[in-house]
Amino acid sequence: MKRLLIPGGSGLFGLNLAMMKHGSMEVFGTVHNQILPHAPFTVRQSDLTQMGAVSRLIEDTKPDLIINCAAVASLDACEHDPGLAEQLNTQLPAEIAQKAAALSIPFIHLSTDAVFDGQKGNYAESDLPNPINQYARTKLWAEQVVGEVNAEAIIARINFYGWSLSGKRSLCEFFYNHFRSGKRMNGFIDLFYSPMLVCDLIDVLFQMLEKNLHGLYHVSVDEALSKYEFGCRLAQTFGFEQGLIEPVSWKEAALSAVRSPDLTLDVSKLKAALGTPLPTVADGLERLKQQSQDGYRQRLMAVGG
Ligand SMILES: NC(=O)c1ccc[n+]([C@@H]2O[C@H](COP(=O)([O-])OP(=O)(O)OC[C@H]3O[C@@H](n4cnc5c(N)ncnc54)[C@H](OP(=O)(O)O)[C@@H]3O)[C@@H](O)[C@H]2O)c1
Repeated sequence: MKRLLIPGGSGLFGLNLAMMKHGSMEVFGTVHNQILPHAPFTVRQSDLTQMGAVSRLIEDTKPDLIINCAAVASLDACEHDPGLAEQLNTQLPAEIAQKAAALSIPFIHLSTDAVFDGQKGNYAESDLPNPINQYARTKLWAEQVVGEVNAEAIIARINFYGWSLSGKRSLCEFFYNHFRSGKRMNGFIDLFYSPMLVCDLIDVLFQMLEKNLHGLYHVSVDEALSKYEFGCRLAQTFGFEQGLIEPVSWKEAALSAVRSPDLTLDVSKLKAALGTPLPTVADGLERLKQQSQDGYRQRLMAVGG
């Protein structure tokens, strides 16, 4: 069985990846602060900012594939501790990418649509990034250094949603939790993006590996929608009361950080390379609903005990 190493196996992306792949691959997921006592895969506790931690992890687990999901993914946390953000979001992927290249281990680096400033939208890989906060800056630096040290790596700019360990990590869970408890919520009508369900995204990344793709790709749905529309589509899929969402401008909300209005991605390069249609928002929301009915969501949350 092939061995998959997931630095950041307790996060939104990493835990979904581990839950999807254990059974067909031997999965090693790292955690830092979380404990996953009921994980059906091998868990290793590690602070990956510590000297030698990455080398030890790779030597011990001898992976056939590494997908790095460890990061400081919160905008506020990156502003609060810019040095840690640089360590986790730039230096760590650079180190893993370098070791993966030296050992010829396929490597996927997860980047973000937030490398753009959101003034234009429908961004292609050839468009010039312009990060507007520390999170985005550290992610862009990582793209550059990962590309320099590992020409075989896949660098995927993404935006995604899905079920998480805490039940409140993802935007879909924000909407879902409010609908379930009948509470009113705001939905931004002027923030646009192209979100893909994390499990659909994982399927696409594995198709990219099968096709031996490498380099920079935008990996998202081929659609543009506002966060408000996303909430409405979720309500329609699950049969919730859509009127509970208040359509508002993000400029009227008291947000701590300035937002990028249009982070939609052009996925022409990926579609041409894969030659198959990409999952849609409707596909993703249907699968999200199915995962709440077939026990996937419950199994994922139960991993934490
Ligand atoms: N979430 C999104 O919407 C989004 C959008 C675009 C791109 N991305 C990118 O996708 C990737 C995954 O994001 P995510 O949302 O899944 O992140 P997340 O839920 O915040 O998970 C982050 C992971 O990093 C681990 N970690 C944090 N500090 C660590 C340290 N010092 N040593 C080792 N591990 C550490 C965490 O472990 P513990 O929890 O155990 O402490 C957790 O497993 C990131 O590269 C992010 O930039 C995310």
